Amino acid sequence: MRKVLFIPGPTEVDPDVLVELSKPVMPHYGLDWGELYNSACEASKKIFKTKEFVALLPIPGSVAIEMSILNILEKVGEEVVNITNGYFGDYQGEMLRWYGAKVLEIRNDVGQGTDIEALKETLDLNPRVKAIYSVHNETSTGVADNIIEIAKIARKYDKLFIVDTISSYGGMELEFDAWGIDYAVGYASKCLSSINGICPIAVSKRFLERVKKRKTPVKSYYFDLQNYIREVNKWSAIGHPHPTSVPTSVIRAFHIAQTKALEEGLEERYLRHRRVGEAYRAAFRAMRLDILAKEKWASPVVTAVKTPEGIEDKIRALLLERFGFMIGSGLGLTEGKVVRVGHMGITASPQYMIQLVPAFEVVLKDLGVVDKVGPGIEAAMKILSKR
Ligand SMILES: Cc1ncc(COP(=O)(O)O)c(C=O)c1O
Repeated sequence: MRKVLFIPGPTEVDPDVLVELSKPVMPHYGLDWGELYNSACEASKKIFKTKEFVALLPIPGSVAIEMSILNILEKVGEEVVNITNGYFGDYQGEMLRWYGAKVLEIRNDVGQGTDIEALKETLDLNPRVKAIYSVHNETSTGVADNIIEIAKIARKYDKLFIVDTISSYGGMELEFDAWGIDYAVGYASKCLSSINGICPIAVSKRFLERVKKRKTPVKSYYFDLQNYIREVNKWSAIGHPHPTSVPTSVIRAFHIAQTKALEEGLEERYLRHRRVGEAYRAAFRAMRLDILAKEKWASPVVTAVKTPEGIEDKIRALLLERFGFMIGSGLGLTEGKVVRVGHMGITASPQYMIQLVPAFEVVLKDLGVVDKVGPGIEAAMKILSKR
């Protein structure tokens, strides 16, 4: 049985992306390629909502975050604030510590976003902080943080602001320039329904200025943004817009996914994700399950649902065995306590919901958690039929 991916990434792939992937491979140089790559970057700029530097890097999301760390940190003991709402925030903190940063952690209560007063207090007490790291949408807990407010504080205190927008890119409001972000990492295989293999990043002039002022070289050749941009500028005229080879088919697939997102309209798309998120939360509540995130912080693209003790793995196994539906487990502190459903890209739709929600109810009934099938899908449809 084919697995249908209701996990919070990778998601189901858009059929038009699959068609693009079946076409002959292009070389990573030549004027045609240069033009296509630049159009893909222009589309990324529209999704990041930025006029700043954008690149499509053939690396995973965490490595794109690591690139920012390499460019910012110069010596052991430099102070950085890391805001964490779960596993991926913690992971970011781990990477910062690996490079010798003194990490001042803002650890928010489970299911909640940033306490702005705690952030201000940390910055008041630690004026040498170089940067603030945060995660827009914490995929492990289904918490969407208040990036606008954090960005205001970053600007007020004049700190570089780095945001992991990996699971929000293309599915949630994001305004790189207007909010005042300095470095953001997007993604292909979550809210865009494309495939892994490249990662879009946006970098502000302010960030690049700080890199220029470094007294020591970045401890990586490729990841030094100054080297990177110099190489890009050197080779772009002959249609070689990247210092190395790149997976051209993956970039073309990504470009199709971005073009479709822009054709749908970003505002429409964000609204679609919000409505489906709301419908999932209503459905789970109708099954008498609690949502991990407090409603104010609930993510529109991933829902973490608390499960009765001892059955988290059984729910996932039965959904997979009987229906081929794959949902996510808890991660880190939520392991064994929640299941996570991704409603990202093409799965953020009634078409997919109408499959998963009743199947979920059937499984819960078999496990003796609910006594009937129906209230969940009914609650979901009530939300989706509202205009
Ligand atoms: C919010 C967030 N950050 C980082 C990552 C890690 O991405 P990668 O596995 O591509 O390094 C993920 C992956 O699910 C994520 O959801």
